[in-house]
Amino acid sequence: MKRIGLLTSGGDAPGMNAAIRAVVRTAIYYGIEVFGIERGYAGLIDDTMMQMEMRSVSDIVQRGGTKLRTARCLEMLTEEGQKQAVATLEKHGIEGLVVIGGDGSFRGAKCLTEGYGIPTIGIPGTIDNDLEYTDYTLGFDTAVNTCLDIINKLRDTMTSHERISVVEVMGRHCGDIALYAGITSGAEIIVVPEIAYNMEEIITRINRSRANGKRSNIIVIAEGVMTADAFAKQLQDMTSYSVRATTIGHIQRGGSPTMADRMLAAQFGNKAVHLLKDGIGNRVVGIHKNEIIDMDIIEAVSMKKKFNYELYETLQMISM
Ligand code: F6P
Repeated sequence: MKRIGLLTSGGDAPGMNAAIRAVVRTAIYYGIEVFGIERGYAGLIDDTMMQMEMRSVSDIVQRGGTKLRTARCLEMLTEEGQKQAVATLEKHGIEGLVVIGGDGSFRGAKCLTEGYGIPTIGIPGTIDNDLEYTDYTLGFDTAVNTCLDIINKLRDTMTSHERISVVEVMGRHCGDIALYAGITSGAEIIVVPEIAYNMEEIITRINRSRANGKRSNIIVIAEGVMTADAFAKQLQDMTSYSVRATTIGHIQRGGSPTMADRMLAAQFGNKAVHLLKDGIGNRVVGIHKNEIIDMDIIEAVSMKKKFNYELYETLQMISM
């Protein structure tokens, strides 16, 4: 393979830049040219791209966001959009494509692979951690650490005022950000889409913690359940505690990636180019049990994300 394309697609995630750097530098190491496609599949359809050199990816390993910019491209779901994308790849002699993104982005890659035989490699880049085949996605660790920093600050003021804080985190339909941020911040309660909540039980738990000497409570709620405002209102209407709501929002999507995310980015990017170099396409890369893996893209996108009930039980036991 002499020339490959690279794009970031869907919601950005910290570590995408570090993965871009790893792909570009590994490819150049092997004498493969890399074309960076701007704004995800939209740039592929519109033919907006540039050749990337060693120095194109200098000074980005530590930056959040994505140098290539990103978009959610509905046109890529149409046959016309896909044909246009393939035409752009052919025009530039691009023989393989690396796609950094989440579930939706992988579906676009799957269409190019299945329908048109373009070898593609998917790198999981999303803060949501909602892909079953990989233990972690790029950006998840940084996003959870950003949430932790905010929850730590909330704990300070909640304890001073003896309040309850309801903190909303992202994750779409997946409760992993809430689960990991909840367990590692010492939150007493998490509310996730995977488990139906019972407000009476939550109030009993809060009452018990107060009887045991707690001065404040943190409830981390995943956006897939409801807003922090709506949940705080329900709770406030049923108790005499002082309840406050905070929505972390897009702050958790930005910022300098953690060591864990930069390491994943280096390994994922490197592995993606190795696969294409060896003539292997139609795969996604990931991490499982601390090992970098690759898997058939069609199989990976068809796997249903499982919730970690064991971790949830741990939180129930240790956060009282
Ligand atoms: O997929 C990443 C994510 O941040 C989700 O957690 C969230 O639901 C969504 O993107 C927000 O999308 P947007 O940035 O388009 O508002």
